[in-house]
Formats: sequence, C-alpha cells, structure tokens
Amino acid sequence: MTTATTPLFQWDDAYLIGIDELDYEHRGLIDNLNELHEELLRNVDRDRVDQTLGDIHARLTAHFALEERVMRDGKYAGYATHKREHDEFLDDYVDFLFLFENNPGLGYSVMIETYLKDWVVNHILTSDRKMSQMIRH
Ligand SMILES: [Fe+2]
Ligand SMILES: [Fe+2]
Repeated sequence: MTTATTPLFQWDDAYLIGIDELDYEHRGLIDNLNELHEELLRNVDRDRVDQTLGDIHARLTAHFALEERVMRDGKYAGYATHKREHDEFLDDYVDFLFLFENNPGLGYSVMIETYLKDWVVNHILTSDRKMSQMIRH
C-alpha cells in the first residue's frame, strides 16, 4: 500500500549559496532526506531504511570533503571552524546510527530525521552561506 506523503521539506532557492557544485550537492542531500522521510512514513523494511541512512552518511562524507577542498582552494579563513562543524556532525550521525539500531521505533526515527533536517538547513543557511560570501568577494 502506498500512502501520499508530504515531503519533509521542500527545496527553496533561499538555500542556494552561489557555488554551483555545492548547491547541486545540497539539493541532492535534501532529496535523500526526503527519501528517508517517505520510507519512515511508509514503514518500509528496516534494511531499506538502514541502506538510506548509510547512503546519507556516504553523501555527507563526500559533500564535506568537496566543500572543504573548495574552502582550502579559496583560502577561507574560517576553514578550521567550519571543518570542525562537519566532523562533529558526522560523529553525532554515527552515534545516532548506533542508537537507532537499538531503538527502531518510529519515535526515534522521527527524532533522527528532525535532527538531520535541522542541522542541514541551519548549516547551509549560516556556515555554508557565510563561507561562500567570503570566498566569492
Ligand atoms: Fe559546510
Ligand atoms: Fe554544505
């Protein structure tokens, strides 16, 4: 049975930071988060959800690596602080994955997606945007 669902959040051009390759990846990341949201709502197989959570981790890791290269190439003064945000978030994400393994209930998964969404949106709108403005000017 399929159920019509509302996306976790819609792409908004307010998320654009003006560096094409990073904007493209941010959009893809948001697609992934919506995919997770739909799967949780549809109560799909746990294996499928685990795979999506793994895909999101891989995408985040690759995205942060690219973004950090852009920052180094742009000689961004805030590099160390920004990279620390990425590293700490990845650590938290891995902690969440371990916790989720032992707490497969819907309440916990909703907490994960809310946490992911809030971090990603906030990070794009603040740290990524600030970095882009500094590099491009
Ligand atoms: Fe970032
Ligand atoms: Fe980013």
